[in-house]
Amino acid sequence: MRKLIIAGNWKLNAGAEAAATALAKGIADKHGQTDAVDIVFCPPFTSLRAVQSVIKGTKIGLGGQNLYPKADGAYTGEISPLFLLDCGCKYVIIGHSERRTYFKETNEFINEKVKCAFANNLIPILCIGETEQEREAGKTEAVVEDHLRGGLAGLTAEQVKGMVIAYEPVWAIGTGKTATPDDAQSVHAFCRKIISGLFDETTAQTMRIQYGGSVKADNAKELLGQPDIDGALVGGASLKADSFIGIIENSGAL
Ligand code: 13P
Repeated sequence: MRKLIIAGNWKLNAGAEAAATALAKGIADKHGQTDAVDIVFCPPFTSLRAVQSVIKGTKIGLGGQNLYPKADGAYTGEISPLFLLDCGCKYVIIGHSERRTYFKETNEFINEKVKCAFANNLIPILCIGETEQEREAGKTEAVVEDHLRGGLAGLTAEQVKGMVIAYEPVWAIGTGKTATPDDAQSVHAFCRKIISGLFDETTAQTMRIQYGGSVKADNAKELLGQPDIDGALVGGASLKADSFIGIIENSGAL
């Protein structure tokens, strides 16, 4: 049985220490010791330490929203995996569609980051997913396959088993539109088929695949109830303690 993983991607929000601390505390007070589901906060870099101090001693994990695939050096403005580790991170989001779109990140660069995360004992949450245009052109499976092949190139089955994929259809992010549970389920099952072909069936059945894109308390139950959906990567609804708690409580895992 795969354990659900519900992660809040706070993006460029809740950046001020007071806001981040209050948000983390609101959720940790209620679910800090919850074991039935893995809960992860991914705040902006500048709030990592403050959030870590709130969740210390709880079961909640911390994640970065990105990394630069170098330990150190002349890379002005970038964040090394070592800094994330130093702040207490266990996870790191890689290849989010906002980074693919606004920062022109390619599969090759994303793959470098995934490998760098593993080299530094961080668990990558690799984001994949098609745009609206690609979906309308019937290219969903081709895009998802391309993101998986590119992002997972050169990894071992052992590594892939321990990582997380987040299927986030770009047209569902921040729009209030969600994939229907059936559509999301069928893409997740397709991802497992590709991973089984690239690695093996055990790997495909062991690794966790989250859904992301307008997940809220009131659609969490149906989405997370699908057999191949192992949790959620949540943007907007992770910014209020009550709505994130609602997703955890409707996940079916408690
Ligand atoms: P929303 O939940 O705001 O649609 O964002 C999803 C997302 O991009 C999480 O990484």
